[in-house]
Amino acid sequence: MSNKKFYISTPIYYPSGNLHIGHVYTTFMCDAIARYKRACGYDVYYLTGTDEHGQKIQDKAKENNVTPQEYVDNIVASIKQLWKELEITNTDYIRTTDLKHEQVVQKVFSKFLEQGDIYLGQYEGWYCKPCESFFTQSQLVDGKCPDCGREVTKEKEDAYFFKMSKYSGRLLDYYKSHANAVTPSSRLKEVITNFIEPGLEDLCVSRTSFDWGVKVKEDPHHVVYVWLDALFNYVSALGYNTENPELFEKYWNEETEKVHVLGKEITRFHLIYWPVFLMALNLPLPDKFLVHGWIIMKEGKMSKSKGNVVYPEPIKEMYGMDLLRYYLLREIPFCEDGVFTPEQFIERCNTDLANNYGNLAHRSLSMIRKYFGGRIPAYKGCINEFDAGLEAAVKLSTNMFFEKMNNFDVTNAIACIFEAIDKANKYVDDTKPWALAKDEAKKEELESVMCHLANTIYTVSVLLSPFLLEGTTKILNMLNCPEHLRNYEAISLPFGQLGDVQIADAITPAYARLDAAVEVERMKENIYTRK
Ligand code: MSP
Repeated sequence: MSNKKFYISTPIYYPSGNLHIGHVYTTFMCDAIARYKRACGYDVYYLTGTDEHGQKIQDKAKENNVTPQEYVDNIVASIKQLWKELEITNTDYIRTTDLKHEQVVQKVFSKFLEQGDIYLGQYEGWYCKPCESFFTQSQLVDGKCPDCGREVTKEKEDAYFFKMSKYSGRLLDYYKSHANAVTPSSRLKEVITNFIEPGLEDLCVSRTSFDWGVKVKEDPHHVVYVWLDALFNYVSALGYNTENPELFEKYWNEETEKVHVLGKEITRFHLIYWPVFLMALNLPLPDKFLVHGWIIMKEGKMSKSKGNVVYPEPIKEMYGMDLLRYYLLREIPFCEDGVFTPEQFIERCNTDLANNYGNLAHRSLSMIRKYFGGRIPAYKGCINEFDAGLEAAVKLSTNMFFEKMNNFDVTNAIACIFEAIDKANKYVDDTKPWALAKDEAKKEELESVMCHLANTIYTVSVLLSPFLLEGTTKILNMLNCPEHLRNYEAISLPFGQLGDVQIADAITPAYARLDAAVEVERMKENIYTRK
C-alpha cells in the first residue's frame, strides 16, 4: 500500500427525511475525488454518515409515533441502501448515535470544561427551530433566520458556552498564513469579514429545551449543541480519543491531505467552529474546505411544500447510475449554484455521452471490427499531422485534467477530457477512414487511424472512470483493455500502449440516445416521487 494518504468527508446528513439530489451531489463529488485519488495511488479514507440528534429529529419521531432512535434507524437504513445502489465507495459510515461517537463528544466536552474553554452561562437569543441555531439580533436578515429565511423566536435558557472569543486572533492568523485552505477563496473572505474580524462571540454549546442528544456528563439535563456533536464525527469515526486510535493516528496527521466537502450554507460552522475546536485540542487542522453551491430549481430552492424535491432513486431507475452522476458533476458549475432541469439533463447526457463519447467509441470499434477483423493495429508512431494533432490534444487534455483534479475542480476536469473526445471525433471526419479503406495503398494510414482512435478512447475512458462507472467499464471491456493498463500510471506512459489487441466481437453503444420530448415528460412525471 502506498504511503501517500488522503482523507475526504461529506457533511453528515440530517436523517429528517429522505435524501435528494442535493445530498447526492455532495456524495458523488467526494466519491469521484476519492476514486481519483485512489487511482493516483493514494491510500484513501472516505467518510460519510448521518447527524442524528436535535430537536427536529425528536419532533419528527413524535409526529410519526416512534422513538427518535427508531425514526433515525429507519431512515439511515434507506440512506445506506442508496449509497450502496449508487456504488459509493465510502470507507466508513458514522452515525452520531454510535456509542463510540457519543463517548468522544462527552470526553471532548469534559476536556473543554476542565481547561476553562467551556463555562456555564445564560443564553438569550433568536432561535430558528428548523436550523437549530441561535442568532444575535445583528445576524438576522430582515428579522428572519439568515440561513433559511424563516421566522425566529426569542428564547432564553441556562447554557454552556465555548470561549470562541479567546481564539479569534489565532483563527485569523491561521487563515492569513493558509490562504488556500478554502476553495473558493470568496467563501473564506465572507467568513473573515462577517464573523472573524469583528471578533468571535462565545458559542452556546448546550441545550436544555430538548433531550435527544449527547448528554453533558457533568450536568445531564443539558445535551450537547448539535454542531459540537456533529463536527466531531470527522474524527470520532477514526477512533480519536478511544481505545482504538489507529485510524486516527494514520489519517489525521500533518502528512495526510485532509479535505472536507460541504455546501455553502454550512461554511460558518466548518470554517470557524471546527478549526477552533481542533485548535483547543491541539489537533491538526484540515488542509482544505471545498465549498460547493446549491442545486436549485427554476423556481428557486427545492422544497417539499413546492413539491419540487428531486429524488435520485427514480432517475437511477430510469437511466442507470452513470447519467445522474455525470450530469451533476459536469453540469453544476464548480463552487456555484446550478439549476436542475429535465431538459438540460437529457440534453447534456445526449450531447456528451451518447453523441460524443459513446458514439466515438461505437463508430471507432465498429471500424476496427470491419476493417481489421477486430484487431487493434500496433502503434507505429505518427504518420501525418492528423495523428500528431490528436496525440497532442490527448496529452494536453490529460495534463489539464490532472491539474484541475488536483485542485478538486471536477466540473472543468471533465470538460478537459471532452476536449480530447471532440478532437477525436473531428479526427475521424478529417482522416475519413471509410475512404482510406477503399484504397489498398492507404492501408498503413488506416492502421494508424484505428490505432490512434483505440488509444484515445482507452485514455479518455480511464480518465473518465471516477465519473462514469458503467459506460467506461463497458467500453474498456469492448476494447479488451488489459487490467494492467486500466490506471493513471499507464495512461501517463507514452501514447500507443494499447496495440495488437483483439477487441470484443459484439460492439454495442455504451449510451443510448434519448428522445428528448418523450424523456423530459417522463422525468417530470417521475422524479418528484420516491417509491
Ligand atoms: N447535518 C448538517 C451537516 C453537519 S456536518 C458536520 C447538515 N445536514 S444537511 O442534510 O442539511 O445537509 C448536508 C449537505 O447536503 C449540505 O452541506 C450540502 O452539502 C448538501 N445539500 C443539501 N441540499 C443541497 C442542495 N440543494 N444542493 C446541493 N447540496 C445540498 O447541514
